Amino acid sequence: MHIQISTSILSADFSKLQEEVDSVIAAGCDRIHFDVMDGHFVPNISFGAPVLKWVDSKGLPIDAHLMIEEPWKYYDDFVKAGATTLIIHAEACDDLRKRILQIKEAGALPGVSVKPGTPISMIFDVLDMVDQVLVMTVEPGFSGQDFMAEMMEKVKALRERGFKGHIGIDGGVNLETAEMCREAGGDILAAASAIFKAKDRKAAIAAMKG
Ligand code: DX5
Ligand code: ZN
Repeated sequence: MHIQISTSILSADFSKLQEEVDSVIAAGCDRIHFDVMDGHFVPNISFGAPVLKWVDSKGLPIDAHLMIEEPWKYYDDFVKAGATTLIIHAEACDDLRKRILQIKEAGALPGVSVKPGTPISMIFDVLDMVDQVLVMTVEPGFSGQDFMAEMMEKVKALRERGFKGHIGIDGGVNLETAEMCREAGGDILAAASAIFKAKDRKAAIAAMKG
């Protein structure tokens, strides 16, 4: 399986965000992950679509991880701002199939994410519609938390059901936990602190790719 590293900018130095993004691109990451938080769905506020628009990902795919209530209201904003994939939370949606279809209509690839406490079976009936499932390995809201290894059961369950799309893993992914993610069947590893706090970003990304 081709492993991709998606750098979450959440622990970048925002006073020089483009420089930080350029640095992780030069270090070999494959995608850029934007953690959008509204202070309601998660207990933290980060940023909205304008930040995606300002950042030049130099052609790399952009995952917009929407940790917000009623995400569908903002699909067009994020697509216009350059998002490739819109990842919504199953817990934030009334009618998940409808909200996924609307992502396609807005012109992006659909992704769906589940919090640690949400059974993976909750999304089994939409697997045929999504490009990516993002399995949370921390409670969403903050970077720098510890990886929940027991979430690998969800990743394995998806692959055992024959899911062929991307499986992203998000939260606490670092040089030690990346191997578990790859072995379980994850192919997009999202990481913030493990990359931005590394002395050698290139070596950190290469090590996580395995
Ligand atoms: C958490 C975010 C993650 C977070 C990852 O709510 O979805 O993407 O930024 O940060 P690290 O890699 O530091 O756990
Ligand atoms: Zn995220």
